Order: sequence, then C-alpha cells, then structure tokens
Amino acid sequence: MLVLGLESSCDETAAGLVELESGSPPRMLSNVIASQHATHAVYGGVVPEFAAREHLKNLPWVLEAALKEAGVGLGKLQGLAVTQGPGLAGCLHLGVAAIKGLAVATGLPFIGINHLEGHLAAAFLEHPDLRYPYLGLVVSGGHTALYDVRGPFERRRLFGTRDDAAGEAFDKVAKLLELGFPGGPALDKLAQSFMGDLAVVFPQSQAKDGSSDFSYSGLKTSVRTYLERAAKGDAVPEKAAVAAGFQKAAIEPLIRRAVEAAAGLGYAQVVAGGGVAANSLFRQALPLACESAGLQALLSSPALCADNGAMIAYAGGLRLMAGQSSPLDLGIDPNLETNQALA
Ligand code: KG4
Ligand code: ZN
Repeated sequence: MLVLGLESSCDETAAGLVELESGSPPRMLSNVIASQHATHAVYGGVVPEFAAREHLKNLPWVLEAALKEAGVGLGKLQGLAVTQGPGLAGCLHLGVAAIKGLAVATGLPFIGINHLEGHLAAAFLEHPDLRYPYLGLVVSGGHTALYDVRGPFERRRLFGTRDDAAGEAFDKVAKLLELGFPGGPALDKLAQSFMGDLAVVFPQSQAKDGSSDFSYSGLKTSVRTYLERAAKGDAVPEKAAVAAGFQKAAIEPLIRRAVEAAAGLGYAQVVAGGGVAANSLFRQALPLACESAGLQALLSSPALCADNGAMIAYAGGLRLMAGQSSPLDLGIDPNLETNQALA
C-alpha cells in the first residue's frame, strides 16, 4: 500500500511517502520537511499563530515535493495519513483539513495518527531487523516518556516527565546562554566544542519523591542559578563548559532509565524518536550503554528523529492495512493521550 503522510503538529510542515507490503520491510520513497525556524527565531520560540500561517503557505508545495521526490503521481496513492494530535490546535487543523481535501478529491481512505505513535514507529523505516516488543523512548520538545511497545497499535507508557520535556529544557537553557532559536541543536554544538574536563557539574534530573519519572525543571533552575551567581561574582562563565555540563545531566538519565526499563522488561531492542534523539551525546552514549547491557540500540537518522511525514505515513499505513480509517468529520485532538492500548 502506497501511503502519503502529513505532519503539521508544531513548526515543521512535512510530508512523506511510504510503501508497505505485509511480510516485507517498509520502503520510504520521500521525506520532505519545511522548517519554520527562521520565522520563529526572532521571537525566541514557536509562536502558534505564525506557525499556522506558515503551514498554510508551505502545505501545497511540501505535498507536491513529496510526490515529486517519490516520482509518483497522486493517482498512484492508495492511502492518506495525517497527525491528529497532540500538538498546536491551529497547526493540526490545517494538516487535517488538507488531508480531508485530498481524501475527498481522490476518494482515498485516510487516517488520523497520534504524533507519538509516529515517533515510536519511525525506526522501522531504517531498521528492518526491529521486532515487537521493544522499548521506545520519545524525547522531543513536547514529550519525554518511555514506552513498552508491544505491537503496532498496542503500547504502554511506563513513565515520563513530571514537568518540562527534555527538548524544552535544552531550548530554555540555550536561551539562558543566549544561543538563539532553535536552542537544542545550538547547545549541542557548543557542548561538543568543549574540550576540557567537565568544569560545571549539574544535578541529574530526578523526581523528588524518588519515583522513576524524569524531571527537568530543577536542572534548568540549577543552570540559571549558576549563571546568576557567576554574574554577581563578576565571573565570566565559560558557556561551552555550562552547555557540556547541562547536556550530560540532561542526557544521562534518559539513557540510564531506557536501558534499565528494557532490561527490566526482558526486551532486546531500544528505539528512540523525537528531536533530542538527534543530540550528539545521546547518539554516542545510547549504543554504548545498550551494548554493555547486552541490548541493541536502533537509532534513526536525524531527519527521521525530528518531526517528519514519513513516520506518519508508515504508522498510518499499518492502520489502513489493518482495515482502519477515519471519518470525514474527524476532529483534531491537541492533547491526544499516548497511553493507548488499542488492540
Ligand atoms: O520531535 P521534534 O522535532 O518536535 C516536537 O515534537 O517537539 O523535537 C524538537 C525538539 C526541540 O526542543 C529541539 O531543541 C530539540 O528537539 N532538539 C535537540 C537537538 N535537535 C533538536 N535537542 C538537543 N540536541 C539536539 N541536537
Ligand atoms: Zn515530535
């Protein structure tokens, strides 16, 4: 089944084509992503109204580019998929409306997809050796959670963040360090440039009650307090040392808990999705930690870690092939829950 997937839940307008055939690994034919970073950079964060306006501008050409890159016409498609939530309401509306328009024009079935289901399924596009069940970690700007992924439509959220998402913490600390927007990649680059021993050590994220939950607001406050104290004492903190210290404190708990959870469940494979899975320390440390625990880490390339349409096409294709589809009056759901066990 040849499926077009559309993603517009936040600040990327993205479309991709994936071909699914039962018994064979999926084939990704295109993955086009239009970033809105330049629009939001001036404001230091995503402005929802501007994000929606950009989607409106980008949707037509992104859809066309995804078909062109795949070398197929609209007439060859067999199904459509779109992110239904979670995400920014105005942005989700535009994507869902665009797919409904295509569905009416072509007569094709379409399906609304949970954005996190997309992130958790993306690894199949590059790793034909991935098998259910596996341990899934979603680390993005809006979400930080571990999942017991038992099947394409069955997963259990094990635990997540109490407060900020990991990507949100990267973005906020990058702002404190005046690194511009988007902060995550800039902070990563600066931390990588740090050559000394770790000069600044920050406490690692841990929920106060000792539960397994992640917590990132304390870490962000530690960085702020450190910078304020340094400023009062007329010291000039080395930004790269702060970035490296923060990055270590932010990334290590994700890796430790993912490995612990996979080992606890007796699973052999660990999959990570979301923008923070593109982080260089994360990509270096996760495979090493998995290897020493006898596990296999399956990382996607950065374009498939970040928000993209191919992951939505694949997740949608699995559901369409199972006979599921959405009605034309499908609504968006900005707070769509991910703890679904949909058999
Ligand atoms: O999955 P994603 O593209 O969008 C959401 O669904 O949120 O993730 C975006 C998040 C942002 O917070 C961004 O700063 C972070 O991922 N990010 C990174 C890196 N690249 C993107 N964080 C740390 N290191 C990176 N290299
Ligand atoms: Zn995402």
